[in-house]
Amino acid sequence: MIDNKAFYSISSGLYLLSSTYNEHSSACLINTFLQVASHPKRVMISLNKDNYTHELVDQSHVFHVSVLSCQVNMDFIRNFGFQSGKDSDKFAGYSTDLDSLGNKYIKDYVVSDFVLKVVDTLDLGSHDLYLAEVIEAKISADDEVLTYEYYQKVLKGTTPPKAASYTTDKKIGYRCPICGYIEEVEILPEGFVCPICQAPGTIFEKIG
Ligand SMILES: Cc1cc2nc3c(=O)[nH]c(=O)nc-3n(C[C@H](O)[C@H](O)[C@H](O)COP(=O)(O)O)c2cc1C
Repeated sequence: MIDNKAFYSISSGLYLLSSTYNEHSSACLINTFLQVASHPKRVMISLNKDNYTHELVDQSHVFHVSVLSCQVNMDFIRNFGFQSGKDSDKFAGYSTDLDSLGNKYIKDYVVSDFVLKVVDTLDLGSHDLYLAEVIEAKISADDEVLTYEYYQKVLKGTTPPKAASYTTDKKIGYRCPICGYIEEVEILPEGFVCPICQAPGTIFEKIG
């Protein structure tokens, strides 16, 4: 048997992965960034094939990972974790820079930065696993790092279907079409607004 709750006990941080190819840039929230070797220094990430950022990494073979701080707000999470760079300029309104491999990256809410080059790819079905060489690494701010646990317990964040950690526990209630938040009730009260992104309850979709 597979108990989906067991997956919730796997701890990780939350990171912003940015990539640029032919002057097209995007960045998406990930929780799948891990150091997997020390000599040489190697890290891996897992990217959903439907994400625009995947398309950019797939073509450029370079990317930037920023370790996020707990100062991050839900507007930032919604912008990078729940909408696509195909539809909007996700970098608008944030302070940005270009790394040494040409990736545009965000400087707000960041504790440390990694500049990375793909050395191998493994096809996992819904996701591609990228193994990468560390070209640069630096501490950018003296701040607490954002953990998945803090995101779920304090920020009350949810996990969208494209995240590698998404599980399909059946829930009954109403889902916010903007940020994915689920209110588990039989009937949504009048005047209800999403506690995460403030979308009106009238646009929530019935699930279950
Ligand atoms: C908490 C959280 C964790 C996520 N983890 C991943 C991940 O590890 N890999 C991934 O491909 N997408 C992950 N996502 C989903 C992407 O951030 C999301 O699909 C994003 O909108 C893609 O943007 P893009 O199309 O501009 O690349 C995660 C989202 C959230 C909110």
